[in-house]
Amino acid sequence: MRKNVVIAIDGYSSCGKSTLAKALAKQLGFIYIDSGAMYRAVTLFFIRNQVDVNDEAAVKDALQHIELNFHSRDYESHILLNGEEVSDEIRQMPVSERVSEVSANKLVRHDMVKQQQRMGKSKNIVMDGRDIGTAVFEDAQVKFFMTADPKIRAERRFKELQSKGDTVTTLEDVFENLAHRDYADTTRAESPLTRADDAIILDNTELTQEEQLAFALEKVQPFLPKP
Ligand code: DC
Repeated sequence: MRKNVVIAIDGYSSCGKSTLAKALAKQLGFIYIDSGAMYRAVTLFFIRNQVDVNDEAAVKDALQHIELNFHSRDYESHILLNGEEVSDEIRQMPVSERVSEVSANKLVRHDMVKQQQRMGKSKNIVMDGRDIGTAVFEDAQVKFFMTADPKIRAERRFKELQSKGDTVTTLEDVFENLAHRDYADTTRAESPLTRADDAIILDNTELTQEEQLAFALEKVQPFLPKP
């Protein structure tokens, strides 16, 4: 039995996983780890260095030249790719359009999963992603599987992009990208997105952030370290 507490949050793209994960981590004093940011940062490296994801030797070589680090400020997680802060750039559409392909790669996944397991070896963490409860931490004490109406999800992500100054991407582009990523994430061969048998479903289509946090805290409560 692990001594540290791991809360795994999986689910479809843009359904509020990171918002809930951050709120939970803040409330509980846990470390928040955004596993999607890691796949996005690798994708950015592949784009910049024109790494062919189908070329095994090139992927292996690229992974040896990638160092990922997180630094946390106010529970906002920032990711560094070889020392460079790339948190904003990895959320832009060029990365979103390529990340499914890169994250389906077996070598990439093995490397990321190893790093994620190391990060959650002894500390209390909340980690969100697609395979956290099914592959990275099968023994997580609490697992959530999040979902929401695809239209609502696209609207949320569209607003987020607009607030960051993206005036090019349309709502339709976002909707199509989400649908494509959901399909790719659930049908890939290597640890596809699927609900762990013991995961608690959280459909937040009609829930406020406060309601989601209250729901999650209640489920987590029995597993918290005793003072
Ligand atoms: O959570 P996100 O949308 O930032 O994740 C970006 C992509 O990374 C997503 O389309 C699928 C992939 N991903 C994954 O395959 N496994 C994870 N644990 C996290 C993300």
